[in-house]
Amino acid sequence: MLFLVILSSLFVVVRTVQNHQTGFTTIFTTNRLPWNGSVLDYRMMPYVGNGHVATVVFSDFIYMNGLYNGDNGTSHRARIPSTLNWQFLFHPSTSSFSLNVSSGTFTEILENDEVRIEQRIFASQEYTELLISHVVITRLALNGRKIVLPTRINEQVTSDDIDFVVAARNEQYVLLSGKTRQVENNQFQLEQLPVFVYYTPLPVNGFELDPQETSRTYLFVTSIDSEQERAKRRFEYASNERHSDQIWSSHVSLWNDVWSNGRVEIVGDDELQRQINSAFYYILSSLPPLSTRSEHKQFYGLSPGSLSRGGLVGEDYAGHSFWDTETWIYPSILLFYPNLAKEMLSYRIALRDSAADNARLFGYEGWRYPWESARTGVDVTPDGYLDIATYQQHITGDISFAARQYIAATGDRKWLMSEYGGDLVYETARFWASRVVYSNEKKKYEILTVLPPDEDARPFKNNSVFTNAVASYSIQLAHRVSCITKKVVPQHWLDIAFNLYFPFDNATQTHLEYDGFDLKNTIIKQADAVLLGFPLMWPMNKEVRRNDLLFYEPLTRASGPAMTWSMHTIGFLELNDLDKAQQFFRRAYETYVQPPYNIWTEIPESLGAVNFITGAGGFLQAVIFGYGGIRLTLDQLEVMPPPRLPNQAEKLIFHGLKYHGSILDLTIDNQNYHIDVRGMDNNNSMSLVYEYEQEHFPLTNNIRLSYPINTRLVIRPLMHFCA
Ligand SMILES: *[C@@H]1O[C@H](CO)[C@@H](O)[C@H](O)[C@H]1NC(C)=O
Ligand SMILES: *[C@@H]1O[C@H](CO)[C@@H](O)[C@H](O)[C@H]1NC(C)=O
Ligand SMILES: *[C@@H]1O[C@H](CO)[C@@H](O)[C@H](O)[C@H]1NC(C)=O
Ligand SMILES: *[C@@H]1O[C@H](CO)[C@@H](O)[C@H](O)[C@H]1NC(C)=O
Ligand SMILES: *[C@@H]1O[C@H](CO)[C@@H](O)[C@H](O)[C@H]1NC(C)=O
Ligand SMILES: *[C@@H]1O[C@H](CO)[C@@H](O)[C@H](O)[C@H]1NC(C)=O
Repeated sequence: MLFLVILSSLFVVVRTVQNHQTGFTTIFTTNRLPWNGSVLDYRMMPYVGNGHVATVVFSDFIYMNGLYNGDNGTSHRARIPSTLNWQFLFHPSTSSFSLNVSSGTFTEILENDEVRIEQRIFASQEYTELLISHVVITRLALNGRKIVLPTRINEQVTSDDIDFVVAARNEQYVLLSGKTRQVENNQFQLEQLPVFVYYTPLPVNGFELDPQETSRTYLFVTSIDSEQERAKRRFEYASNERHSDQIWSSHVSLWNDVWSNGRVEIVGDDELQRQINSAFYYILSSLPPLSTRSEHKQFYGLSPGSLSRGGLVGEDYAGHSFWDTETWIYPSILLFYPNLAKEMLSYRIALRDSAADNARLFGYEGWRYPWESARTGVDVTPDGYLDIATYQQHITGDISFAARQYIAATGDRKWLMSEYGGDLVYETARFWASRVVYSNEKKKYEILTVLPPDEDARPFKNNSVFTNAVASYSIQLAHRVSCITKKVVPQHWLDIAFNLYFPFDNATQTHLEYDGFDLKNTIIKQADAVLLGFPLMWPMNKEVRRNDLLFYEPLTRASGPAMTWSMHTIGFLELNDLDKAQQFFRRAYETYVQPPYNIWTEIPESLGAVNFITGAGGFLQAVIFGYGGIRLTLDQLEVMPPPRLPNQAEKLIFHGLKYHGSILDLTIDNQNYHIDVRGMDNNNSMSLVYEYEQEHFPLTNNIRLSYPINTRLVIRPLMHFCA
């Protein structure tokens, strides 16, 4: 026998009908998979992943964190042939295909009068090297016949990206070993990247049930890593039938822990709850587990197309990291899972040498991050988009702003002092200080020849208002934390930070996206100047905030990317214009999310990159910062009055918000909102207080604070940083 068989008694096979009461918001199911002509429409298929490996269910490829092939103009995720994409050659009378986001599992059930096939696929949270499939064949008609279920195997042992050899093939496993074919850059990547794939071979004769057998369970293990020893060890452990149950139950309980650690609950709108659950699931399954027994691995970024896609230069952004990571996805992760936010920042820190080199390359100082980043941190923007790579520089400020929000949420001094956080903050500020020029005419500092977030402004403009804002914040942050980092910010930098030129139309009281921007006739790709209001919270009065929103909305083209409308939602909630907010909120997700698995597309009508987790991140920000009214600054966490309920919801609950070591649940209803303090980290050097009617009181564990929705709540450290 060329395959592993484990006893069916390990699994209890129960014929259940889905419980729509409890499962509806966490189960995404269909009896007909999405097809494109005669092939599965993989763009609309869900994935399983754990931040180390991910695969679109039934697709041809698996991807591994940090494994890229190609040079600086062609780098993309290296395609590992899928070991989980066989097909049962079986005509079912009923079938169902379900993604269970609460357990990070995909389940296929096929059935006719005689037999039932149930396959369960998951990427283990417990051991991240593992992708596992359990197949249970169950006899339904007791006719004493031998049952043989043939399969189309689809096994591939070669890859365009990896020079695989079949290093071993026996009854227990196949081992593919190889290296990527091309290095991204020979200064920062000394050699091709190794990868080892151990997997259980399929039964060549198909899946079988002997005449007397009622049920049989097959276990298929795939173990992938850059270290052979580790891949082998995990494979051997997981292939041992005695561990199979435990690996499955740990996986489920670790996913449960993720959701109990932090989650958004909507009472009274199941459809919206589904959207929130799937958006979080797709982001979280591209991030490392909150807790795992695998050794810690360097995280290599969060791409707009997730870890499960990007095996071609032109496909779903090739697995590259852009500002999407820090500006769009990160904020919805930070408040619930600050450790994962730190992992995201660790990617940029790990590639600091390239960032330093990239600054020098252009004649600047400090760290300049590339527009597109993959394995080494050299700019991997595809050939043909050189102008974008050259001029779209705000990313360095976006990363600094993410660092600012991390510090604001956690007060993590250790990160600043000894984990390169302080260097990240200081060196990005240094870049901006070297990047500006002084204008004698304006008596202000300017940043010339940049491409703003709105890429329709190609190739470049002067004084992108968004870029200037993140540059100013970047220098201000370095100063703010300097008593901790012991890196003194020169007075000259501060002078720059507070005297940067901001293009502004005095007549209409509106920010200009860049110098000379025509507020009447320009078409823009996406949210840009409106980002000053949120996420940047740049100081401005309500009139300007409103003008920015109203002027830029009609200029934004309908074919722009998904996340724009979330920012308009947040803006109109700030201004208390509920109808407009609601209209943009629905637009932000209904236009871009495709059934049955709630896959996000970059642009409407199912077009553009998938699974566009940038859009999912923007949407979650609209829920958290828009309806939830949460504002995070270096000084405090605030609930801005009034927090609101989206759609027809009766309650909005944020479970497990983390702020400076405290764990908070925020519950919002029509009249009131409540903060329940569920935990306090007693090691927190800065004790927290909450303000009420201009007085402050200590925040202690197990208290509940209740406020009418029109009241402002502020929680802050008793002592500010460097005050
Ligand atoms: C459907 O498949 C065709 C042929 O492979 C491809 O050209 C097209 O882009 C696919 N459509 C979608 C929406 O993926
Ligand atoms: C890519 O690398 C080559 C060789 O080092 C270099 O000449 C080229 O300028 C690089 N391209 C970009 C976009 O950095
Ligand atoms: C989904 O997974 C959870 C475990 O987190 C489990 O309790 C639930 O029964 C599963 N639902 C279905 C329909 O399999
Ligand atoms: C940008 O500023 C430079 C220097 O002031 C000027 O020469 C150039 O015309 C400006 N370009 C645009 C597009 O405004
Ligand atoms: C802006 O407009 C106001 C009147 O609306 C005027 O008083 C002021 O001088 C203008 N400022 C500039 C810099 O043009
Ligand atoms: C508090 O600090 C002590 C000593 O540094 C450490 O052993 C302990 O794990 C910390 N507790 C928490 C909850 O972080």
